[in-house]
Amino acid sequence: GVVVGRRVGSRRKWKRVVSVLKELEEACETPVGRLRQVVDAMAVEMHAGLASEGGSKLKMLLTFVDHLPTGSEIGTYYALDLGGTNFRVLRIQLGGRRSSILSQDVERQPIPQHLLTSTSEDLFDFIASTLKQFVEKEESGSEPSPVRTRELGFTFSFPVKQSSLRSGILIKWTKGFAIEDMVGKEVVTLLEAALVRSGLDMRVALLVNDTVGTLALGRYHDADTVAAVIIGTGTNACYLERADAIIKCQGLLTSSGYMVVNMEWGNFWSSHLPRTSYDIDLDSESPNPNDQGFEKMISGMYLGDIVRRVILRISLESDIFGPVSSRLSIPFILQTPLLAAMHEDHSPELKEVAKILKETLEVDGLHARPATPLVGILKKIGRDGSGGITGGRNRSDVKMKRTVVAIEGGLYTSYTMFREYLHEALNEILGDVAQHVSLQVTEDGSGIGGALLAASYSSYSVDGVN
Ligand code: GLC
Repeated sequence: GVVVGRRVGSRRKWKRVVSVLKELEEACETPVGRLRQVVDAMAVEMHAGLASEGGSKLKMLLTFVDHLPTGSEIGTYYALDLGGTNFRVLRIQLGGRRSSILSQDVERQPIPQHLLTSTSEDLFDFIASTLKQFVEKEESGSEPSPVRTRELGFTFSFPVKQSSLRSGILIKWTKGFAIEDMVGKEVVTLLEAALVRSGLDMRVALLVNDTVGTLALGRYHDADTVAAVIIGTGTNACYLERADAIIKCQGLLTSSGYMVVNMEWGNFWSSHLPRTSYDIDLDSESPNPNDQGFEKMISGMYLGDIVRRVILRISLESDIFGPVSSRLSIPFILQTPLLAAMHEDHSPELKEVAKILKETLEVDGLHARPATPLVGILKKIGRDGSGGITGGRNRSDVKMKRTVVAIEGGLYTSYTMFREYLHEALNEILGDVAQHVSLQVTEDGSGIGGALLAASYSSYSVDGVN
């Protein structure tokens, strides 16, 4: 890793370091006025993305999910969760009363690195065989159910253009996946073919984004949940939108009058975002330049690398870190969990690391970034206390409404400082309204929520609309 070293520098060296850091601090600065500009830009882009196909960098994708779990779902369901650092297979048993998930078994596995750039057949064969082994283990000893086909919610955390609950094509890869033959293909068809090859009898009940799974689990536990946010390897959000506001899909009829919209906010862009030269270099050296701009500024896959670039620059401009370590030039060598550990280690031995990263380096400035788009959603749906830019609502009514946002992802759950900065920024932007907004962590929500949705949309379900 990075050797933080010997304070042998002369005053001049330190002056150079201080000026690099000052420059960074200024570029990162997020006074509340600037945060508000980003919030407004997000709400504007949301409108544009809903108005027409390709109308914004925000894709605002239809999910066809028009009702969310109520708590009355019954039965045993499976889920597959693919799209983060780990791949998960799950099984849940539902008892039919709110919050009564009778049992849940989750198995996590890192995806073998070579599969990320192989073929869709290799990837799906791996998934199907892992799932098959899991099912056999789960069902060993229990009576086989003769009539019911097993049902699966497939959580696939990439941008997918859906044409129904169970179908959709992969628009593009994000987060370092690069299986070229899969772009433009029907995701469920590929999974089903692999299930057939593996001999596992299972029906794919629906295809969902991880944000949608998270929203489903959030709603299962709390009926006031209206949006979900992921800040993990990648970042994204979804929320419940009025069907008539989805103008690009004229005459969209849903049983509830609502539909969950997958924003794909990782691709959000606004000139108001505090973009530094490090962000610009990271983007231009990435395999997908000009793509996923916002995700590259805040999410777990990239944050460590932004800091590596800063340390490298300081190292090149002064010798406060000793001779320039060649490891500092290796992209992604500083992984975000390591950054989090440094950021949170206040032990005496690492005093210098903590001091440089926290006090002098001011990485703090990076963390105000994720709060703004979240407030953008609240603004769009009129829950930010301003009445929303769509207008038409009574300000005081709006103010009082309790709003729950389900949230998941390692950056939020495991990086304390990140979480604290996010909360601080939310309080700063929302002021008094912040007390009506609560963030609820939904552990494994992306997968469990996928299984819950499989239950609410099950072909055996008699449960109607909510
Ligand atoms: C990326 C994906 C998106 C997903 C997010 C969080 O941004 O494109 O679909 O929700 O990562 O996993």
